[in-house]
Amino acid sequence: MAHLEIDNLCASYGNTPVLKGISLDVEKSEVVSLIGPSGSGKSTLLRALVGVTKPTEGTVRIGETTVDYRSAASLRSVRDSMAIVFQQYNLFQNMTVMDNVTIAPIKIKKWNKAEVRKHAAELLERVGLSAKHNAYPDELSGGQQQRVAIARALCLRPQLLLLDEVTSALDPELVGEVLDTIRDLARDGMTMLIVSHEMGFVREVSSRIVMMDKGAVVEKGPPAQIFDAPEQERTRDFTARILSH
Ligand SMILES: Nc1ncnc2c1ncn2[C@@H]1O[C@H](COP(=O)(O)OP(=O)(O)O)[C@@H](O)[C@H]1O
Ligand SMILES: [Mg+2]
Repeated sequence: MAHLEIDNLCASYGNTPVLKGISLDVEKSEVVSLIGPSGSGKSTLLRALVGVTKPTEGTVRIGETTVDYRSAASLRSVRDSMAIVFQQYNLFQNMTVMDNVTIAPIKIKKWNKAEVRKHAAELLERVGLSAKHNAYPDELSGGQQQRVAIARALCLRPQLLLLDEVTSALDPELVGEVLDTIRDLARDGMTMLIVSHEMGFVREVSSRIVMMDKGAVVEKGPPAQIFDAPEQERTRDFTARILSH
């Protein structure tokens, strides 16, 4: 049974429809990637899942639970189960790495401080930053800051991690270390829905890929289908364009 089940999801900005009936599933421990041209609705889909942009139609199920985006309790629960990491990592500049990672679980969730810090230390080790607990963000590279942002998301113990172009703002030489971190998470069985333009990485890490255009799903399939034998002309055009530069 799918861990995340999205059925006919629609969303609009004002009167402009932006998601036009998206359906897709993500199984537990699966990595699914969204690809497609800029403006095709990939970020909006992630925002709609956590209810930042309210879906106008369709259903989202997480495990056995159907999300009700009009209910505050249901929204809280969906936000507990998913964490998003964005291109801009937005760390608190006046706080250490450890405090950045632990502030939400300690201050907002009121979880046990000692346990949260222990978990945070494990996560920082996992993202290769055990030596940086007491560093401030401006002492870190962009790649290191983005790995702190990933540790911060994981410290909330999400069932699903949503990654929206997390390497797009990084200098090219820093992209690899962040992709390595995501690869490790995939290997450890973290369920992820990823938006990325790093096509080599997407091909390697994803079990399935969803090609979107103009707010709709054009084609879904395993990487070999999408990249080597796409069924749709638009998929072929997109991957050819993005792989040729
Ligand atoms: N806050 C917003 N208000 C109005 N329109 C938006 C907003 N954010 C995105 N859009 C529009 O919604 C469409 C999908 O955008 P987006 O989800 O950001 O696409 P992608 O992430 O695939 O580049 C685009 O046409 C974009 O211009
Ligand atoms: Mg986007």
